[in-house]
Amino acid sequence: MQHSVIHDGDHGSDDFVATLLFAAQPRIFNLLGVTTGYGNTSVEHATRNALAALELAGRHNIPVCSGSKRPLSVLKSGDNAFDDDGLGGVSFPVCREPHSLNAVEWMAETLRVADRPVTLCATGLMTNMARLLQTCPDVVPKIGRIVAMGGCLGPLEPGGRRGNITPYAEFNFYMDPDAADIVLNSGVPVTLLPMDATHKTVLTPERQKRLLDLLPEFPARELVRMMRAAEKYDMPKFGLPGAVLHDQNVPLFLMAPHLYEGRDVTMTVNADPADERHGQMTLASEGGPVHMIERIADPEAVFQLMAKALAALFPH
Ligand code: BDR
Ligand code: CA
Repeated sequence: MQHSVIHDGDHGSDDFVATLLFAAQPRIFNLLGVTTGYGNTSVEHATRNALAALELAGRHNIPVCSGSKRPLSVLKSGDNAFDDDGLGGVSFPVCREPHSLNAVEWMAETLRVADRPVTLCATGLMTNMARLLQTCPDVVPKIGRIVAMGGCLGPLEPGGRRGNITPYAEFNFYMDPDAADIVLNSGVPVTLLPMDATHKTVLTPERQKRLLDLLPEFPARELVRMMRAAEKYDMPKFGLPGAVLHDQNVPLFLMAPHLYEGRDVTMTVNADPADERHGQMTLASEGGPVHMIERIADPEAVFQLMAKALAALFPH
């Protein structure tokens, strides 16, 4: 089944690779456009990175629209996991400008003329999504579902952390908890890929080598380098053997949903800026509009799927 998708991200390294995966497979994804917002980096860098990903994938006609410059409410400092430029110092050429409409206006216009439900894929802060739902309720019936990376129910191990940026919160939810709460409680069906699941997909040294062997030298070295950028946090914080591949799981889930297991829940997100648990996602009740993926049945199969899709996009 082909999915009509819009990819909304904050275009750090893992959002970049997620865009490549959407762009790589026109038979699976009808990628209508990419929208960006503040998060891993400034919205200006995020927009440039999204344009670069599409350029690298040879998809020069897919629109890129710049969106939120800041969260809905309180601005907290991020962790700069992928450095200032969002890509760990890796740079690709960009030869075109973003679309003249902003992300929310463009999403609304695109949804209004869509002739079938569109899947909105969120891999950054949910600021653009929340603004869309709040300001353009007429387009809600056109949204098939939202598939998003964010949040962490945890603990990730007994007695351990419930987040990456703080012991309680995952980055996307911490940076804009108001937006996450609006989206999760909007009534629109949401499939959520929280850290509980994404933490199982790790770019180990052995997997890095496999990617370097499988893909041509360019862009293999650049992709591996950018994906390794978050190692500096993920390895000491979690004792993992490499950086976590978070956002790639959004397209990979749509490509192979049978590899992911979840349950239906209702969630709330703590948006109190003064609380140490700011950004924490909490289970409100079983049953509800959020299908929370809690387990990846076969993380190695997920990695292989990513590697195969990238190899098809960049053949030797
Ligand atoms: C999320 O935060 C960002 O750093 C990544 O791009 C991902 O979307 C993981 O917590
Ligand atoms: Ca992201």
